[in-house]
Amino acid sequence: MAQDGTRKVYVKSYGCQMNVYDAQRMADVLAPEGYAETADMADADVVVLNTCHIREKAAEKVYSELGRVREVRRDRALDGRETQIVVAGCVAQAEGGEILRRAKGVDLVVGPQSYHRLPGLLEQARRSPGVVDTEFPAAAKFDHLPGASREKTRARGVSAFLTVQEGCDKFCTFCVVPYTRGAEASRPVYAILREAERLAAAGVREVTLLGQNVNAYHGQGPDGAAWTLGALMRRLAEVPGLERLRYTTSHPRDMDAELIAAHRDLPAVMPYLHLPVQSGSDAVLAAMNRRHTRDDYLRLVDQVRAARPDIALSSDFIVGFPGETDADFRDTMDLIERVGFAAAYSFKYSPRPGTPAADMAAQVAEPAMTERLHALQALLDHQLRAFNAATIGRTVDVLVERPGRHPGQLVGKSPYLQAVAFEGRGAAAGDIIPVTVVGTGSYSLLGERADIEPERATA
Ligand code: 5AD
Ligand code: SF4
Repeated sequence: MAQDGTRKVYVKSYGCQMNVYDAQRMADVLAPEGYAETADMADADVVVLNTCHIREKAAEKVYSELGRVREVRRDRALDGRETQIVVAGCVAQAEGGEILRRAKGVDLVVGPQSYHRLPGLLEQARRSPGVVDTEFPAAAKFDHLPGASREKTRARGVSAFLTVQEGCDKFCTFCVVPYTRGAEASRPVYAILREAERLAAAGVREVTLLGQNVNAYHGQGPDGAAWTLGALMRRLAEVPGLERLRYTTSHPRDMDAELIAAHRDLPAVMPYLHLPVQSGSDAVLAAMNRRHTRDDYLRLVDQVRAARPDIALSSDFIVGFPGETDADFRDTMDLIERVGFAAAYSFKYSPRPGTPAADMAAQVAEPAMTERLHALQALLDHQLRAFNAATIGRTVDVLVERPGRHPGQLVGKSPYLQAVAFEGRGAAAGDIIPVTVVGTGSYSLLGERADIEPERATA
């Protein structure tokens, strides 16, 4: 590492929120070694692409981006500055040394289980570029997360992510996650608590618990027993300063009674649930190995709504899974109509090397996928607008996050994860303010503070 202690690192993250969290961890690991974060790639001595492997499009992005990074490196070299190029994340884990062969100029390929070794690996790559570390020591998965080491958690804002669980044992037939992130593992309760307390002390008001299968959480509690996610949240709700708890991503099979009860009993648990269903057809769900039926899902939604009637639901959908017929697709549309979603992510099926579905016969043709995706997105978009429109006239608690686009304006989040913009009038980031929603803008709802008199218009 450099002697002057002024090296800069730029991390670009793709994909899920765990990558966002991991990017912060990388910065946290590098900070004591004299690296400062920069938001400008051209300014960076180390450029990290924190990649996603979930769909082909996401995975291919890294190769086009690497072209741009190499240009930046060439420009910097003209000024005599060196640049190290690092590929991290799930593409690194899945493709390893193959990346060095496909793309020239990569100095280091590092998988998610090895970020704690980044300083040493960068040093090694400076002496001899082309280092690959995708070791997978499953047992020690969380030994190097901030709560379990000396690394300091640095909060950046009022809302933070906190990894509680990683990996997946479900093996849905389309998905690479069990291969890139490995077997399910949960962090112990004490480590999570410690990190949550540090975050709260640093001004964080909202924590989103992360895991590829977060509600399969079964970390060891202080009593020696395995705690569920519901039990963990019950404890986290007691941390002073933590006002809001969220979690993502859940599997329908792991929505147990304790978790549903947490939505009923704990005001800190926000009324929002991301519960991917992928398809509304029993035949497709079976082929996907989702291990639940459409009726199981609909019943679950009823139970969750009985516990928390105002809960906003969001989901993930895949269209064009191998063998999906028009009738299967209609079942998905029907499920969407029955549930009514506040938000959703939808994708065309993308065959991933090494997954069972990639070898299935009856791959769906591209035009059919496109048509289905458009129809599905039109319906979901309609539901999203209806959900937002239904908040007009209501007063919701907004956690203030940052200044808005206009002077004096602030932007925060409603309990239902909607962005709300309003005239701040003395409010600050971290405040939770009752705001009456008066309209919808293009990216957010518009509101007015409900806790103080409206400002009089001056003639
Ligand atoms: N093709 C398309 N979408 C996929 N997802 C995961 N794997 C694939 C794939 N092979 C979607 C699922 C999952 C979300 C994170 O990404 O909907 O819930
Ligand atoms: Fe992938 Fe299925 Fe595991 Fe989710 S539950 S990460 S979709 S294998």
